[in-house]
Order: sequence, then C-alpha cells, then structure tokens
Amino acid sequence: MQVEPGEYMRIIPPPPVVLVSTLYGEVKNVAPFGMNMPISSDPPLYAIGVRETRDTYSNILETEEFVVAVPGPDLVEQIAATAEALPRDVSEFERAGLTPAESTVVKAFGVRECQANLECRLEWVRQAGDHHIVVGRVVAANIDDRIYREDLSRVVIDPVYHVGAKDGEYAKKGALVGQ
Ligand SMILES: Cc1cc2nc3c(=O)[nH]c(=O)nc-3n(C[C@H](O)[C@H](O)[C@H](O)COP(=O)(O)O)c2cc1C
Repeated sequence: MQVEPGEYMRIIPPPPVVLVSTLYGEVKNVAPFGMNMPISSDPPLYAIGVRETRDTYSNILETEEFVVAVPGPDLVEQIAATAEALPRDVSEFERAGLTPAESTVVKAFGVRECQANLECRLEWVRQAGDHHIVVGRVVAANIDDRIYREDLSRVVIDPVYHVGAKDGEYAKKGALVGQ
C-alpha cells in the first residue's frame, strides 16, 4: 500500500523521545524531542532535529551547550507538560515537576528523574528542511545508579516512543502507555 512520502515518519519505528535541557540565563528550559540520534562514537557526537522557533534552538545557539536526558514510560505526563509552549523566561522544569540535576561539565542541568543524561557542547548546526540538525559533542555522560551495571552493555534503558508522531500517544516496547 502506498502512503504519502510526507507521512513517512508514521511508518518507521521512531527513536526514543529525549528531553533536551538548556539555559536561558538562569531559566532552566526543558522540552521533548523525537528527532534525535547518535551519529559518531569517536568523537562522541549526538544529533537532534530542532525547529528554529523553539526556545531550545535559541538557547543552544546562545550558550553552545545542552543536555540530552532519557525519560522512561513513567514520565509520559511530564513529557507532555514540558512540550507546552511557554514564554522563554518560564521554566518547564517547574511546570512539569521535574528536578534539575547539576551537570559535571556544562552549565545546563540534567533531569534527575531520567535514566541517563548526556552533557553536550555544540559542534555544528545545519538547516535540514523545516528543522535544523544540531550536533553536540558528548563531554560527560551519566546513568541512574539504580540501573548502572559495570558492564554497560547489560544496562537496560526503558525507552518511551512517540507513536506515529501523534499528539499525546506514547508507547513503551510494544504497548501504549497512558497519560
Ligand atoms: C514527544 C514529542 C516530540 C517532539 N519532538 C520534537 C522534535 O524532534 N523537534 C522539535 O523541534 N520539536 C519537537 N517537539 C515539540 C517541542 O517539544 C515543543 O514545541 C516544545 O514546546 C519546545 O519547547 P521550547 O520552545 O522550550 O524549546 C516534540 C514534542 C513532543 C510532545
């Protein structure tokens, strides 16, 4: 069955949703991003797809850093809350009831409730259609002590997916999760 090329994102398995945390002065911004992927292991680079209208985009360009946090299915309500379009000087951390966690290298905060946090410094940005590819170098990475294993290949991260890029529908492995 043919589908519209513009609908392609609904027919490939999506990447797990990440929360991207940035700073606007003292304001701690956090928002969900479905467009995200690892693109290099040496050096360690991570890419996100960001519309230039997002506060996240402006904050990254100004501060040249961001943190990529990995939420689990227990955080679907918080993910939705951080997606609210709030003025740039209002923190989505407080609105969503998420706890900022101090980073080790960058000034932007991680998300305590998330399973892993990647501290990134901006490498480059390039426009790609209606989004910009924002590439960061991972300068520090941490994982929740409760799921840490010495053998990192045995770490089990519980991802949450944005189903078919549809508003408010999230899934974990094979099952929808409610809000
Ligand atoms: C699950 C989910 C995934 C999203 N993925 C993206 C994305 O990949 N790129 C993007 O620009 N916006 C994405 N959005 C929309 C932004 O998160 C939303 O516009 C948010 O308010 C932006 O916040 P900011 O202005 O503080 O950066 C997504 C929203 C949701 C709920």
